Amino acid sequence: MELILLKHALVICLVLLVFFLAWCCEAQFTIGSNETARQLDSVLQDYAYRAFVRPRTGIPYDGMAPTNLSGIEVAVLRLRIGSLRTRGFKGYKEFDIPTGVIVQPYVKRLAFVYQNLGNWSSLYYQQQGFTYLAPVLGLLAYSAANLSATKLPVLDVVASGSPIMINFSNARPMPNEFEAKCVRFDLNGSTEFSDLISGNICSTFRQGHFSIVVNSTAIAPSPSLAPARRGKKHKSSVWKIVVSVIGGFGGLLLLLLLVGYLASHRSKKKFREMQKREDVGEVLQMEQVGNTRLPVAPMTRTQPVIENDYMP
Ligand SMILES: *[C@@H]1O[C@H](CO)[C@@H](O)[C@H](O)[C@H]1NC(C)=O
Ligand SMILES: *[C@@H]1O[C@H](CO)[C@@H](O)[C@H](O)[C@H]1NC(C)=O
Ligand SMILES: *[C@@H]1O[C@H](CO)[C@@H](O)[C@H](O)[C@H]1NC(C)=O
Ligand SMILES: *[C@@H]1O[C@H](CO)[C@@H](O)[C@H](O)[C@H]1NC(C)=O
Ligand SMILES: *[C@@H]1O[C@H](CO)[C@@H](O)[C@H](O)[C@H]1NC(C)=O
Ligand SMILES: *[C@@H]1O[C@H](CO)[C@@H](O)[C@H](O)[C@H]1NC(C)=O
Ligand SMILES: *[C@@H]1O[C@H](CO)[C@@H](O)[C@H](O)[C@H]1NC(C)=O
Repeated sequence: MELILLKHALVICLVLLVFFLAWCCEAQFTIGSNETARQLDSVLQDYAYRAFVRPRTGIPYDGMAPTNLSGIEVAVLRLRIGSLRTRGFKGYKEFDIPTGVIVQPYVKRLAFVYQNLGNWSSLYYQQQGFTYLAPVLGLLAYSAANLSATKLPVLDVVASGSPIMINFSNARPMPNEFEAKCVRFDLNGSTEFSDLISGNICSTFRQGHFSIVVNSTAIAPSPSLAPARRGKKHKSSVWKIVVSVIGGFGGLLLLLLLVGYLASHRSKKKFREMQKREDVGEVLQMEQVGNTRLPVAPMTRTQPVIENDYMP
């Protein structure tokens, strides 16, 4: 009976440990992966489209990101394909969209969803060895045929003439102009680096996510830029280790407690059985000897305990 219980407890503990480890690994590996970034795109498309209340074509609207993603900015801009191709759109937030943009597959009207990931940038777009000088900005095109649609596929957009310009007006001052690079994250997860055009301006022929980065070692000596970010990174990895260790010990402790509880439960039960048997015997003894019954039973029971205590 108790053996079965013990087995069950062990299985439960193991399952809990496995779940904990899975949670740890997931937290460690899925954040910053392509998939979570694509899920974020999908959520932000949904929330950006909610800004379309009696929308007019060619006017950017600011949306609201979900509350658990506060710090992220979204906006949305609906354009007719013909107008986009012949006129482009200057000054959609940091983006200047040129003429000659080709969209596939064909839609009559499209919507450009703008994302500014703010303080979430390095969480969703991890770049080992690089420091962001600007937030990660996203520009993604979707069909504007149904403005209450969710989980829309991203349209394929290519600038066929001059490139799309991105003016990172809120970029941090560059410690060394030659070290800073434009970075572009493709939706397929690949990363491309290119040179800045001038000042804080990057150019691209495709949509995706963009920022300005600098080699972390290049800015390490600069006290104004490096410490906060590096400290944060350090803290988060320490945090992970602490959680893992606590979790591991917690699981072990739980296991030991359960084993201990079951063992004591078992011995108590045995003890009670013994007592019962002895009580029957003692009743007989009392009838025979009277008051002398007391010392007999406890002494035979305590002896092995004393031996255990002094002989490790
Ligand atoms: C935010 O909340 C939604 C549900 O409201 C959830 O699906 C999503 O995963 C959450 N995102 C984050 C980053 O916590
Ligand atoms: C970003 O900042 C907002 C407040 O402005 C905060 O609520 C949010 O937790 C921050 N996100 C991260 C990933 O630190
Ligand atoms: C940063 O610069 C250092 C020294 O120039 C170099 O060793 C390192 O590979 C660079 N890191 C990246 C991510 O390019
Ligand atoms: C638009 O999308 C919503 C949500 O997916 C759907 O319920 C609705 O039927 C669609 N409307 C049209 C006209 O396709
Ligand atoms: C970039 O933006 C800043 C601030 O909005 C502005 O002063 C600057 O002229 C812009 N640069 C270009 C090349 O448009
Ligand atoms: C991702 O797409 C880009 C074009 O946007 C292409 O150059 C690159 O090879 C693709 N990478 C992968 C891994 O598919
Ligand atoms: C995203 O996926 C591509 C291939 O599809 C892979 O080359 C790339 O390393 C992945 N990036 C991340 C951050 O997981």
